[in-house]
Amino acid sequence: MARNKFNVDEELETPFNFVHLKRLLTYLKPYKTKIMVTVLIMLAASGANLIGPYLIKQAIDEEIPSKDVQGLVILGVIYLGALTITGICMKYRIRMMSQIGHSVIKNIRKDLFTHLQKLSFSFFDSRPHGKILVRVVNYVNSLSDLLSNGLINLITDLFSLFVIIGFMLAIDVKLTMYAMAGFPVLAGIIFIIKNAQRKAWQNLSNKQSNMNAYIHESINGIKVTQAFVREEENKKIFYGVSNGYRGAWLRAVKIQFLLWPSIENISVLTVSLVYVIGISMIGDGITVGALVAFIGYIWMFWTPLANIGNFYNAIINASAYLERIFEMMDEKPTISSVPGANELPLIKGKVEFENVVFGYEESERNLDSINFKANPGESIAIVGPTGSGKTTIVSLISRFYDINSGAIKIDDIDIKSVTISSLRKQMGVMLQDPFIFSGTIMDNIRYGRLDATDEEVIEAAKAVQAHQFIMGLRDGYRTEVNERGSVLSNGQRQLISFARALLADPKILILDEATSSIDTETELALQKGLEALLSGRTSFIIAHRLSTIQNASKILFIEKGKIIEEGTHEELIQQRGYYWKLYTSHYSSLDAG
Ligand SMILES: Nc1ncnc2c1ncn2[C@@H]1O[C@H](COP(=O)(O)OP(=O)(O)O)[C@@H](O)[C@H]1O
Ligand SMILES: [Mg+2]
Repeated sequence: MARNKFNVDEELETPFNFVHLKRLLTYLKPYKTKIMVTVLIMLAASGANLIGPYLIKQAIDEEIPSKDVQGLVILGVIYLGALTITGICMKYRIRMMSQIGHSVIKNIRKDLFTHLQKLSFSFFDSRPHGKILVRVVNYVNSLSDLLSNGLINLITDLFSLFVIIGFMLAIDVKLTMYAMAGFPVLAGIIFIIKNAQRKAWQNLSNKQSNMNAYIHESINGIKVTQAFVREEENKKIFYGVSNGYRGAWLRAVKIQFLLWPSIENISVLTVSLVYVIGISMIGDGITVGALVAFIGYIWMFWTPLANIGNFYNAIINASAYLERIFEMMDEKPTISSVPGANELPLIKGKVEFENVVFGYEESERNLDSINFKANPGESIAIVGPTGSGKTTIVSLISRFYDINSGAIKIDDIDIKSVTISSLRKQMGVMLQDPFIFSGTIMDNIRYGRLDATDEEVIEAAKAVQAHQFIMGLRDGYRTEVNERGSVLSNGQRQLISFARALLADPKILILDEATSSIDTETELALQKGLEALLSGRTSFIIAHRLSTIQNASKILFIEKGKIIEEGTHEELIQQRGYYWKLYTSHYSSLDAG
């Protein structure tokens, strides 16, 4: 199988951790009363169920020998009643446990999602998104077994075991000892099989997770796949992943079906033993009815025992999943407001970088000693080769990443000292690769400010020259676009996200390659409006075309994470340095990355 990150399994075998279980129990707390009622009902059900063999003993030993038809009928009615109660209780149990189990699952998933939304860019930068998806969907689902069956069954199964053993002892102590002879053997077998079974299930869930993650990525990358005719290669990877899943499934099922035959065999052996010994005892301390009832209890004995084995499994399994789930819930957003942080007051828009050093990884220096100042209303253009650090600089202003040293100040306030939401609310950010959400065009622009009226949305669209193309779409502003906006061209997506940034009416506007995919004609029209748009705002513009840059109050030329030239267009042209070289050699088709 081809080596890729999709057939790397997660380590799921973790020692059982009581802390995780306790944390899970806090999710059960709101349903305490429901659970208690269910347990009581279950106890009643198993009590009613267990009375059966006793009634049979009664019939064989008392009513039948004395030909007491009325007594027999009464016993029959009691038995029927007991069976009915058991049936009704079982139905109630299934309903209650599904309800409780899935409410808990819903709550865990809600907490996970809420938390995911808070996590910083660096969290999402560093792992396949499909695997995040698997945790939120599959791992949480895997808890359902434990939640909807395990806990309550454990209580009733233990109860059943005790009652059964009690009845057996009441009938005959010696026979009970013989019956128990099979117990250690069975317990051993259950333990071995269950252990193997658990490993098999964990393996299965790993394979499933790999498959999901791969499918997720393949669908996202389908266009590239087809463009590069990679279908065959991908098919091979998928076959590998999918085969792994099939193998794991078959193994899991095979082990699963080992259990019941073993239990059956051992029960048959035990029962035979008890028959042989029991029959020789008849008349000598034990009645025929008692022996029949005793055998009845032996048959009943194994089910709760196997269930308890199951519970043990479920809890060890869940422990591994819980660990992954809680690990993600505990993942601290690397960017968070300091305790007691103040709101950033309404700003004028001065931005200062003081000796800013930053690396995405500890060992890296993606930005080194960045110093500059932008006065309110100024427009700063950032130019430089691909990978030089332009996008990085502007993402620091919104505090998408924290800097290693130095300071970034807005209106002389260090952005680390204010709340993140109050900071980001005053910025309009147009990211380099604009994201379109599924919904209408109107919704997508309104993402910038949820309380904007339709008129304000249209105004913003007009300002960025998007109005015309939007009106040309099938339903105008009401046109539905799907996730990623695949019915729109790149340029159209950029215009929409430009309008979105503008709608927020921010004092600081960040445009990362806002117009790189827009035709010259639209850009020229945009250019005219742009001046009005930018007036009164501090703006950071990373632009593709030098025409957009020329009017900037200041141009920063970045290379390898350093500002190597700084000044107005005229000043830099006069300097005859990097910017001048760029300007003269490549006037209109500069690839600013
Ligand atoms: N999320 C990230 N994680 C790690 N390194 C990154 C990340 N984004 C960018 N880089 C690195 O930082 C450097 C600057 O990238 P970037 O600011 O995007 O460049 P530009 O926008 O000028 O093309 C590049 O070397 C790039 O490899
Ligand atoms: Mg960039």
